[in-house]
Amino acid sequence: MTIADVEARGRTPVFPDGFVWGAATAAYQIEGAAREDGRGPSIWDTFCRTPGRVAGGHTGDVACDHYHRYAQDVALMRELGLGAYRFSVSWPRVQPDGSGPANPRGLDFYDRLVDRLLAAGIAPYATLYHWDLPQPLEDHGGWPSRDTAHRFADYAALVHGRLGDRVRTWITVNEPWVAAFLGYGNGVHAPGRTDPADALRAAHHLLLGHGLAASLLRTAGAGEIALTLNLAPVIGDEEAAARADILLNRQFLDPALRGSYPPDLLEVVERVAGLGHVRDGDLALINQPLDLVGVNYYNPCYVASRPGQPADPAWPGSEGIAFVDPGGPTTAMGWPIAPDGLTRLLVRLSRDYSGVGLLVTENGAAFDDVVVDGRVHDPERLAYLDGHLRAAHAAIAGGADLRGYLVWSLLDNFEWAEGYRRRFGIVHVDYATQRRLPKDSALWYRGVIERNGLA
Ligand code: FCB
Repeated sequence: MTIADVEARGRTPVFPDGFVWGAATAAYQIEGAAREDGRGPSIWDTFCRTPGRVAGGHTGDVACDHYHRYAQDVALMRELGLGAYRFSVSWPRVQPDGSGPANPRGLDFYDRLVDRLLAAGIAPYATLYHWDLPQPLEDHGGWPSRDTAHRFADYAALVHGRLGDRVRTWITVNEPWVAAFLGYGNGVHAPGRTDPADALRAAHHLLLGHGLAASLLRTAGAGEIALTLNLAPVIGDEEAAARADILLNRQFLDPALRGSYPPDLLEVVERVAGLGHVRDGDLALINQPLDLVGVNYYNPCYVASRPGQPADPAWPGSEGIAFVDPGGPTTAMGWPIAPDGLTRLLVRLSRDYSGVGLLVTENGAAFDDVVVDGRVHDPERLAYLDGHLRAAHAAIAGGADLRGYLVWSLLDNFEWAEGYRRRFGIVHVDYATQRRLPKDSALWYRGVIERNGLA
């Protein structure tokens, strides 16, 4: 079926042939087994042990115990009909010190996982960095230090060396904005540092790490290479919206896809951090040919110009911009529900950055689910997913080159600073027993996948 056929079907939301349906997770959020088989500590292990950082003092020590239950979890994915599974590789399992030779037992786990997935007919999508920086690298400066980008490339080579014969799709870095600006800007995420200059340096080095890794993955023959960004349409008056768009979206899209930073961004960087860390040739290294941009979409960003407003610590350069609450329905995270924003975002991406495919690598919602008589009725999540899939479909009709959709998340899991109190899974996890229970939304999603479209 062609896009024209999709359009011709009018309001029946059927997706193009070959559209990829799947689910996503990340290592620290589900694996547990924090001290097994030679795994070293990551910045999230340290952060979780720092009082007051994570709700309830929760940690990823056990999480969903996926490290031991992966076979059962893959069987569940198969029952749901998933075509793709996006997981992340834990750097501190592979390199407990963040450098040097690989710890074979760490790689063995991903080897087993990938083989299981392939045997179940599920395509493995591997993310190399989903925020679990080895603690020894943070002790040497973390992402504000240029050396971390080189260490990341070495690590990427080790993982590809082991899994590259079976994993076709590689995502280098997940959400560098969050890693840089929540990790080093407002300190809400690990490592919990609060220095706007370091946050900007971290952003550049995460991009550099992406570029170095993408280049070597390409040379090594990787099938598809992607960078996953948390992107959002920015809604508000023109001046505030344009600036926030630069800070959130274009700070990453432009260097990765065009090989340049927006001039207004460089002014911010120069003023806040200086430009010493942006070396000649860096932009060329960052600007590697990509097959896909991974789009993590949860909600739009709402702003308004407000003279005198100081910069938000997570947004160096946001002086004079207020982040406003649009009102209306929200998820349990307090995040606004606005599916139209996804259409707008995807159409804009294909228009402004043509030539690269789009893959929704995360989209989903937390609600306060309860198990009643062995079922989880989650009509709000189901409606959220249905609305966003309709929005994705509309984007394809509007010209977006969208190749697939991965729901966040397969399982309820450790939601970073929120601990286990926020449930994003389409499958419920009882943390006391580790029992998995597909929610109504999972059963519905299975039908969507079967039909390649909505009812
Ligand atoms: C994204 C993260 C993912 C998950 C969702 C809710 O920012 O990439 O790990 O926590 O938010």
